[in-house]
Amino acid sequence: MLDWEIEPDAKRMSNAALVIGASGGIARATTEALLASDANMLVIAVSRSSAPTKLDSRCRWMQCSYEDQGIGETLREIAELRDVITKVFICNGILHSDEIFPEKRVEDIERESLHAVFEANAVVPMLWVKNLKPLLRGPEPTVICVLSARVGSISDNKKGGWYAYRASKAALNMFIKTSAIEFARIAPKSQFIVFHPGTTDTPLSSPFQASVPADRLFSPSFVANKMVQIVEKYIRSETGSGEAHFLAWDGSTVSW
Ligand SMILES: NC(=O)c1ccc[n+]([C@@H]2O[C@H](COP(=O)([O-])OP(=O)(O)OC[C@H]3O[C@@H](n4cnc5c(N)ncnc54)[C@H](OP(=O)(O)O)[C@@H]3O)[C@@H](O)[C@H]2O)c1
Repeated sequence: MLDWEIEPDAKRMSNAALVIGASGGIARATTEALLASDANMLVIAVSRSSAPTKLDSRCRWMQCSYEDQGIGETLREIAELRDVITKVFICNGILHSDEIFPEKRVEDIERESLHAVFEANAVVPMLWVKNLKPLLRGPEPTVICVLSARVGSISDNKKGGWYAYRASKAALNMFIKTSAIEFARIAPKSQFIVFHPGTTDTPLSSPFQASVPADRLFSPSFVANKMVQIVEKYIRSETGSGEAHFLAWDGSTVSW
């Protein structure tokens, strides 16, 4: 469903970014950081939810169910509005819900929870990447930044637990690494970043914040500004080497 009409203003804006999963804590802060970073920036925000009552005039909101077909239709609508999108932020992810809590031991594993967590953390982001391919064929340097988590690093797994979340983020990381190799052939200036935001004060982390030292619990705004700056740096570098970069909030590399 289209929540906005195509306005001349949106066509005039010289830069455009796409924020997917736009109602989330980090995603909302990312939209704000992008708008603040560039007066000529149009932000297209996509979410399962309807548009918030207050929306910046340079932000367009689209509601999408995240079905494969719905994602394709949403991106075709976006392509009518903008030929070129240079920054894409895929912010979807779940750690817990009313029915799901991260597993401490193998006995806690449940088939339905595994499916739900893999769907939100790996399948939905990958369907976006799939449907973005036609939009990325142009000569413009483009960065697709996908929110992952350090716990998705296989080599860094020292503590165990959180089976579904860890494994779904590891699957997401492999989806993105593989996509980067394929996209390098058709969109040589496209780059992928798999991003670890650090523990950030949002509903996703709220049940797990008690053990986090105050100086390691970041505000969504802090993390979003770091992420937007890192994406800008990679866009300017124009490397587009077919590599995916697994980066933390401070720009440091995380091992796969
Ligand atoms: N907060 C942290 O400490 C932390 C740490 C490491 C990694 N991360 C990662 O950062 C990303 C953003 O998290 P957040 O902290 O901003 O969490 P949040 O505020 O809970 O936002 C949740 C996000 O996930 C989407 N979502 C929720 N359920 C979904 C479902 N069933 N299918 C598809 N999408 C769904 C929402 O999109 P809609 O707008 O469509 O509802 C929203 O973008 C996630 O990938 C998370 O794993 C967060």
